[in-house]
Amino acid sequence: MIAVPVSPLETSRCKRLKAATHREHDSVDQLVMAAHPFEDRARYGRFLLVQHHFHGSLHGLYEDPHLNAWLPGLSSLSRLAAVEQDIRDLGQLPPALPARVKVDPAQALGWLYCSEGSNLGAAFLFKHTQCLGLDESLGARHLAAHPQGRAQHWKAFVSAIDGLALDEQQEADVIAGAIAAFEAYRTKVTEVFAADLHTTTNTSKG
Ligand code: HEM
Repeated sequence: MIAVPVSPLETSRCKRLKAATHREHDSVDQLVMAAHPFEDRARYGRFLLVQHHFHGSLHGLYEDPHLNAWLPGLSSLSRLAAVEQDIRDLGQLPPALPARVKVDPAQALGWLYCSEGSNLGAAFLFKHTQCLGLDESLGARHLAAHPQGRAQHWKAFVSAIDGLALDEQQEADVIAGAIAAFEAYRTKVTEVFAADLHTTTNTSKG
């Protein structure tokens, strides 16, 4: 993703979030691609474990009453059940749920920005799953577009986040939450694909 410099006076909170996290995003994007998650179904199955960990850890936030009051309809957006079904589609059992992310509501907004935004790049990932014979009804349910359409859904989410009145400390917390979310994702990719990422590095050194 190309970084767009944003002035601190930018009124859209989500644009400020995008500018504050573009390095983290690009790093995660590159790491995921280096893991070659779409090489075959077995490897994609491991990618699903990363997704399960991320969406599983956020499930409590999607269910949280305070956050649902801030973002009406939030509880219907969790992709955990779809990831679990994708894992079953590949003939495996979903692992136990990971520890829940426990953060204050402002930081939670940053985690949710990261999770919902990941659905935009998922258009690209979804296309790759088709080469594996997977789609929105088999194995790639959680990467499918929202029924409203990816762009429309994102626009509505951004507008809800942008519309919240937050104080200065909370603004900083939202950004810290989003950065922590990208870092957590990165850590899990590194853990799940550790051996392969190492091999890739060794191979590239010849
Ligand atoms: C190979 C992996 C990935 C690729 C190729 C990718 C690609 C993209 C692209 C192209 C966009 C912009 C889409 C648009 O503006 O229409 C985007 C947005 C975004 N992606 Fe990713 N992405 C990847 C992984 C992730 C992951 C793993 C996360 C979160 C853990 C994530 C979080 C986001 C967020 C939050 C946005 C919204 C940025 C904004 O407009 O504010 N992405 N991604």
